[in-house]
Amino acid sequence: MRKDKALLLKLARSDRSGLNPDELKRSDELRKTEISRPLVMVNSSTSGIVAGSLLTWKAVESYAADRSIELDLTETGSIGLSSEDPVVSVQIPGRTRIFFSRITEGRVPSLLDDLFHQVVPDGNVIGQLLREGQEPWENVPALADLPFFALQNRIVMESCGIIDPFSLEEYMAGGGYGAFIRTIRSYTFSEVCELVTASGLRGRSGGGFSTGEKWKAAFRTPSDQKYLICNAEESDPGAFMDRTLMEGNPFQLLEGISIAAYAIGSNRAYIYIRSEYKDAIRRINNAIKELREIGLLGDNILDSGYNLQISLRKGPGAFVCGEETALIASLEGKRGMPSSKPPYPTTSGYLGRPTVVNNVETLSNLPGIIRKGPEWFRSIGTEESPGTKIFSISGRVALSGLVEVPMGTSFDTIINKIIGGAGRGRELKALHLGGPSGCMVPLDLMDLPVSYEALKEKGLIMGSGGVLVMDDRTCVVNTVRFFMYYLNKQSCGKCIPCREGTRRMAEILASITRKPADEEGSTTLERFKGVMQLESLAEVMKDTSLCGLGQNAPNPVVSTLKYFRHEYEEHIFERRCPSNTCTELRTWYIDVDLCTGCTVCAKKCPADAIIGTARHPYFIVQEKCIGCGICYDVCKFSAVYYK
Ligand SMILES: Cc1cc2nc3c(=O)[nH]c(=O)nc-3n(C[C@H](O)[C@H](O)[C@H](O)COP(=O)(O)O)c2cc1C
Ligand code: SF4
Ligand code: SF4
Repeated sequence: MRKDKALLLKLARSDRSGLNPDELKRSDELRKTEISRPLVMVNSSTSGIVAGSLLTWKAVESYAADRSIELDLTETGSIGLSSEDPVVSVQIPGRTRIFFSRITEGRVPSLLDDLFHQVVPDGNVIGQLLREGQEPWENVPALADLPFFALQNRIVMESCGIIDPFSLEEYMAGGGYGAFIRTIRSYTFSEVCELVTASGLRGRSGGGFSTGEKWKAAFRTPSDQKYLICNAEESDPGAFMDRTLMEGNPFQLLEGISIAAYAIGSNRAYIYIRSEYKDAIRRINNAIKELREIGLLGDNILDSGYNLQISLRKGPGAFVCGEETALIASLEGKRGMPSSKPPYPTTSGYLGRPTVVNNVETLSNLPGIIRKGPEWFRSIGTEESPGTKIFSISGRVALSGLVEVPMGTSFDTIINKIIGGAGRGRELKALHLGGPSGCMVPLDLMDLPVSYEALKEKGLIMGSGGVLVMDDRTCVVNTVRFFMYYLNKQSCGKCIPCREGTRRMAEILASITRKPADEEGSTTLERFKGVMQLESLAEVMKDTSLCGLGQNAPNPVVSTLKYFRHEYEEHIFERRCPSNTCTELRTWYIDVDLCTGCTVCAKKCPADAIIGTARHPYFIVQEKCIGCGICYDVCKFSAVYYK
């Protein structure tokens, strides 16, 4: 369908007071505030698909076909409540849209039967999206009043899960692309750099570097060609902010990239995305195509004389490829290995030209900043960290998903008030912030306002905003052991301190979380010496590694030694895991009354630690037992137990 370009540009540019009645009507139709037939929207982003939304989609299609009901069925991104997927929202003409949780295929017929008879079904209701001119449903809470939404300030995620990510018309009818049009028509390159510097926006990938200052460095470097790269590698396990933004509102990201490219005087931008992000790739490819068709990408955009091409490049999905110099090498077709800085990419980056690398969330903030001004942005968050931050929350929590809060909001508000705490009646134990090379945060810091400056003061880092929540069943030492193992596998191997340091740290941690394999191997003294070594190793790795991977790798160790030292000591001196998670530290016994002497455990024990005579009770030689628990798994008489 051809788009009405003139109308869309007008809708994007003007506030609603500048529209005539026909344009207002069309705008309402495109924004779906006014609809003529029922609308069903299914969250088909990754979190939705994992929960079964493709089957839900088919069930809606069959429902409509079987009953000859005419309805519109569209995709959305996630509203942030990933644990409630598949989330489905339904709007019938004249009424507000209601959101439902966990609508698997079998629930579709009864849900739609009820709603089409103007009845709100029992259960599964999340809330309704109140909009002017639409009749609200009785006894359905407003989305905005739910604790999950009420304490957030969604400026970047405002439209995620609400709009159709495949519809440029819907984005533009809500004012989308107005900021880019204003940028190329009203500002010079350096004015945009100044405006973003004045907003105080800091890079959301973790370092918190001033976005405007970074742009200025690239803008001031003379070159016949400059590049803007959107870093959509999102390599931190547990982080899914960038993916959700790309899946929920790809046009906002592309508008942000266009503004950033213009500001640094570049006509060439790349989105470097991990290849596993198939649904984000699908949406971005569609968005690029739509923007080219309407003339918002390409040559001489809107007769401004400004040209811009944006291309998508798939990366292998390696942690180190998220580091900007490794990313640039990968984009150039080389092996994704970091190189030393300076020169910084802003001076010599992609193909040796000035290059700005910015994160997805950073870039997605730009349309709002241009539309509403730097003062508006500065009025949110803290003095030194203006704006909001999106956190992806997973682990042992009541709700998992994405939360966008003003910088300076406390962990307590994010985890206890918005997410509902550990859930299932469990006690919170700690938070791990910032991915595998992030820091463990103890509960006494729950009141800390989360901003770059407040975290730095406590020796913590925000990272890209992944938060892993741990309850009383989690062992911090074992968790850190896993992170070290992961980082060792992800190290590109260029620097010895990173490559060997992460391996040694993982080995030391493993020796603490299991029983001695042999008498020489890991005595208490050896294990204790290992822990002493951890601290000096951490110093060396921090000081001598080339890139952030090796420099930050010791963070989990350093922060847990600082805040959870007692757990290390219990593992070392008492050979006990306080949360009973380290199975290899358990002491295993055989109950003589239950043991039939069937010999199965003795045959399976990898350490030959079980001895006895057939048809008489067997027993475990503790000195030999490595605590693997295989005897427990294989015993059919429940004779094996542990303490
Ligand atoms: C090991 C490592 C991995 C990184 N991974 C990412 C990533 O996945 N996404 C990202 O935006 N930045 C990542 N960064 C940071 C980038 O190098 C770069 O600083 C960032 O893209 C700049 O964007 P910003 O200024 O908008 O924050 C990583 C850095 C390191 C050291
Ligand atoms: S610090 Fe690690 S990941 Fe970074 S360049 Fe050195 S070896 Fe590679
Ligand atoms: S836990 Fe059981 S199977 Fe494993 S080493 Fe000890 S006795 Fe053998």
